[in-house]
Amino acid sequence: MFLQSEMRVCTFNRLRYILFVMNRLETFFAECSQTINEKLGELVLSEKIEPQRLHKAICWSLFAGGKRFRPALVLAVGETFGAKREKLLRTAAAIEMIHTYSLIHDDLPAMDNDDLRRGRETCHRKFDETTAVLAGDVLQALAFQAIAEDESLSAKIRVRLISEISRAAGTPFGMVAGQQLDLEAEGKNISIENLEKIHHLKTGAMILVSARAGAIVAEASEKELGAVSNYASQLGLLFQITDDLLDVTQTTEILGKTAGKDVSAAKATYPAFYGLRESQNLAEKVYIKACNDLDKIGKETNLLCEIADFILNRKK
Ligand code: IPE
Ligand code: IPE
Ligand code: MG
Ligand code: MG
Ligand code: MG
Repeated sequence: MFLQSEMRVCTFNRLRYILFVMNRLETFFAECSQTINEKLGELVLSEKIEPQRLHKAICWSLFAGGKRFRPALVLAVGETFGAKREKLLRTAAAIEMIHTYSLIHDDLPAMDNDDLRRGRETCHRKFDETTAVLAGDVLQALAFQAIAEDESLSAKIRVRLISEISRAAGTPFGMVAGQQLDLEAEGKNISIENLEKIHHLKTGAMILVSARAGAIVAEASEKELGAVSNYASQLGLLFQITDDLLDVTQTTEILGKTAGKDVSAAKATYPAFYGLRESQNLAEKVYIKACNDLDKIGKETNLLCEIADFILNRKK
């Protein structure tokens, strides 16, 4: 007979395990943030960027305390395939620069017209629109420069990274294409296929390439790259579904960006299409798919599964 006291021990052990995993993941993210911030500092703070106003605008947005999720994914996947962290850092920092550029432009009046980002005024509010556009442009250029000049990597790997990251940032398979489609979809009834496509492009592409970049630096095989890509593609979709959910369920204070903006801008989102509960169910399905894809990687992938879990349950 299963005694109540035994059940309590089981529950207690399960709780301890969950806390252990949460702690491990928090430590991993905190460590990543610190090393990535140091690398970004090296690449951007100490770099001679002029005029000064442009440099200030870049630093305003880049060092405002984002989650650093994409660079953390570069490190997590790279290390899963055996790469040393030092070899991954420039690529990880470069991807964070491209992400920050995308946020600066996303917030512009011509796009989502937001006043708050990462808990502070958006770049164009603090400075001006021209400076914000140019700050984004510089960040994108600096990102590719950082990879091109990464002496810890072979020329072949640098070229492959530049090729894959530029495709993921651009069009037709990348973030910029997704941003265009996102804006064109405002106020329209679009199909679920198109909604999923927008999410895969505007957000998924950079998350997918973050994972691939880690694997490329680690010189993973094409088969391994394929397996990790399936996982990361689901992870990217999951990230934007949870972003849509948080816009409805979370406060501005916790998000560090204005909550409820998607409804007021009539954005094409999962909650707008499916409602809250069904969107949450779908997010769980995408999470399960992502974790199942990990089985085919053939490495120890607990950390990658915990990362997917973290995205599913994130509060900001
Ligand atoms: C926000 O990305 C924009 C999306 C692609 C949804 P993050 O939620 O990663 O923003 P930061 O980097 O933590 O500020
Ligand atoms: C932005 O999506 C995606 C990119 C920046 C490429 P959102 O417009 O939903 O991001 P937030 O909610 O403003 O962070
Ligand atoms: Mg947007
Ligand atoms: Mg936006
Ligand atoms: Mg959003």
